[in-house]
Amino acid sequence: MAFGSSRDVDAGVILLLGGRSEIGLEVARRLAPGRVVILAARRSDDLEKQRRELLTAEASAVQTVEFDADDLGGHQALLEKVVAEHGRIGVAVLAFGILGDQARAEQDPAHAVAIVHTDYVAQVNMLTLLANLLREQGDGQLVAFSSIAGIRVRRANYVYGSAKAGLDGFVNGLQDALHGSGIHLLLVRSGFVIGRMTAGMEPAPMSSTPDQVADGVIAGLYKRSRIVTVPKRLKLVFIAMRLVPQSLWRRAPR
Ligand SMILES: NC(=O)c1ccc[n+]([C@@H]2O[C@H](COP(=O)([O-])OP(=O)(O)OC[C@H]3O[C@@H](n4cnc5c(N)ncnc54)[C@H](OP(=O)(O)O)[C@@H]3O)[C@@H](O)[C@H]2O)c1
Repeated sequence: MAFGSSRDVDAGVILLLGGRSEIGLEVARRLAPGRVVILAARRSDDLEKQRRELLTAEASAVQTVEFDADDLGGHQALLEKVVAEHGRIGVAVLAFGILGDQARAEQDPAHAVAIVHTDYVAQVNMLTLLANLLREQGDGQLVAFSSIAGIRVRRANYVYGSAKAGLDGFVNGLQDALHGSGIHLLLVRSGFVIGRMTAGMEPAPMSSTPDQVADGVIAGLYKRSRIVTVPKRLKLVFIAMRLVPQSLWRRAPR
């Protein structure tokens, strides 16, 4: 598939880490035609619906593999298994994550740490291993999801926000480390996305859908962009957010 004047995504399998993620599955659906897609998720024997959707989207094959992001020690073995069984990785999408319960996390350090572990520590571990693997391959593309929550951390969701702020900074640094290596790492900064992760919450202004985020990701993959912001007009909001005095920012809603 061509995207404007840009190149196709890199050759190899599409690896979706967080194989039930709504955003991740929309990305995988768009990349699926003619490709092998690997869904890596907890309860990997319960991915039949997702497998069928991707086959309908004309994936050449869809495989599943057991993946618990919090089991850092299992990450390397998972990547080795994927490469041994299916060959080189073309695009790896790190779509796993939890929003967590902010009120609980403020009282319960174990819950606060669990959020940061999944949303930051596990991402750092997997991105580091994938960067090493793709360096050996000589090419390949990675997608990581930051959030408006991490651009300037708000009192109302500072635990999740701090994990996203850390991830955003880590990815920026890794992008520079990968500069000139032939490996593309895309950072996705989206606002509130209406979907399962935010179910029951009032949509924030400038919300988007998993479809819209996936369209942005695909455009960014084809253009080899460094950052995609969804929706694009949030870029101005991100600049403005930094200028708000702390006395007002403290009261910003989630
Ligand atoms: N939705 C938003 O408003 C929004 C906004 C900005 C950024 N983002 C980011 O975008 C990414 C994708 O989000 P989404 O909206 O697609 O969320 P989603 O539909 O809730 O999917 C997240 C997936 O992560 C998986 N996951 C959580 N912990 C895991 C673990 N320890 N091991 C393996 N998988 C785990 C969940 O798996 P199970 O099925 O096993 O529970 C779930 O399928 C996330 O990084 C999110 O933070 C989302």
